[in-house]
Amino acid sequence: MVPASGTLDPMQLVNVDHVGIAVHDLDAAIDSYRELFGVEPIRRETVEDQGVDEAMIPLGGSFVQLLAPLRDDTPVGRFLAARGEGLHHVAYAVADLPAALSHLEEHGADLIDRTPRVGGGGHQIAFVHPKTVGGTLIELVALGD
Ligand code: CO
Repeated sequence: MVPASGTLDPMQLVNVDHVGIAVHDLDAAIDSYRELFGVEPIRRETVEDQGVDEAMIPLGGSFVQLLAPLRDDTPVGRFLAARGEGLHHVAYAVADLPAALSHLEEHGADLIDRTPRVGGGGHQIAFVHPKTVGGTLIELVALGD
């Protein structure tokens, strides 16, 4: 259960919204998740801004996000070329995304997005560079957005 946003520190991570997994073939990955794990996407869409086709599979209070690149010259296309399929990013929900980004910038984080942009499902999101902490690309998602 996610608490109401008014009771949280603006930059506090509330939960894991989703994990993003880069795949070559979105249909094949969806079929594998269905056959192996008995789960089904609730949403599938093209996000031009990020150069991906994505599918969101609900798992309790969070999601698995399967990502396939629209072209080779996209972030996920370059990721696949360099590393192959695998975990691409972890997305955390925050109560106040602009405040969280200001806080991160003040504390020396390497922000890919200094201001929120619109991600899949119309959610406000921003990415934090993997070199900031833990070698992991972090996506922040505005809570309840
Ligand atoms: Co994501």
